[in-house]
Amino acid sequence: MNLPQFLAELESLSTEASASFGAAADAAALEAARIEFLGAANGRLKSTQKGLGAVAKEDKPAAGKRFNQVKSEIEAAFVAAQERLNSVGATKKEARQFDPTLPGDRLWLGRLHPITQTIEELKDIMARLGFSPADGPEIEDEYHNFEALNIPAEHPARDPLDNFYLSAAAKQEPGVGRQGSAGRPLLLRSQTSTVQIRVMEKTQPPVRIISLGRVYRPDAADATHYPMFHQMEGLLIDRQVTMADLKSVLRMFATSYLGEDVHVRFRPSFFPFTEPSVEADMHWHDRWIEFGGAGMVDPNVLRAVGYDPEVFSGFAFGLGIERLCMRRHGITDIREFYRNDVRFLSQF
Ligand code: DAH
Repeated sequence: MNLPQFLAELESLSTEASASFGAAADAAALEAARIEFLGAANGRLKSTQKGLGAVAKEDKPAAGKRFNQVKSEIEAAFVAAQERLNSVGATKKEARQFDPTLPGDRLWLGRLHPITQTIEELKDIMARLGFSPADGPEIEDEYHNFEALNIPAEHPARDPLDNFYLSAAAKQEPGVGRQGSAGRPLLLRSQTSTVQIRVMEKTQPPVRIISLGRVYRPDAADATHYPMFHQMEGLLIDRQVTMADLKSVLRMFATSYLGEDVHVRFRPSFFPFTEPSVEADMHWHDRWIEFGGAGMVDPNVLRAVGYDPEVFSGFAFGLGIERLCMRRHGITDIREFYRNDVRFLSQF
């Protein structure tokens, strides 16, 4: 084989290889072409290389140089074809994953629990009437839950069957409680009135607070009872406070929460920590509902926190938050609040 023949063979090999690689439509076709041209055992490049031995000695350097160039060209053509197929594959895959005709993914937005929303709203209304929020513990001692509120030891409200007493007791504080060295019994507070005492112990009048939070009573759950519920307590202490002030505040509160068409009425009642005491009802959309207890703070309560009942007087009230929220939204079963069913919760 002379040099021109060898070079011509290389030329056609290069052209054919690029054409085959360029035409390969998928990975299998490209692989077949690779074996045909670049195969290590029987590839056509390999067999052409054998022709190099037949070239005249003085022509070998030129023939070898060209052979190496053609080898690089063919390899480059193969790599280019490989890259072309890869990018086509990726685009096809992307196209399969993104279908612009499908509806978009729906994003679910969380929301506040209806009781939390009600609490925020009640705080807001009461803030406009000048009441600031105050907090107290949910685990209470008998002194704050009963005694300081003028509920004596033999009062039926202290019955262990009507309260969640805890088996653990707090350490005895000197002068407080009735349990001697065994420590003071603790219970889950049964009313937010406890916060009245805690605030008055720490502050001098005038006092104008509300306290919203959980209270606990061992009631069997039904449509109107639940062993845990929420109350809003209100307390105002100042000079010359009267029941007319109490009624005005409750009426303004009720109309702010439900609307101008609400009427508020008082029925005589009894609570150990108020004298006189009333049951407050509101009339809205043709129905009366009881929304809580209220009254003028009993002088004994004022004395328990070191206030002088000859100088200061005040009123207090305690309302059920679930009940208010149920009335406003037409909810008929208190248990709905605590089932955690999003079909219910997402309506608020
Ligand atoms: N603590 C009472 C209850 O849970 C409600 C109540 C009545 C609170 C009269 C008061 C009040 O502050 O003055 O039933």
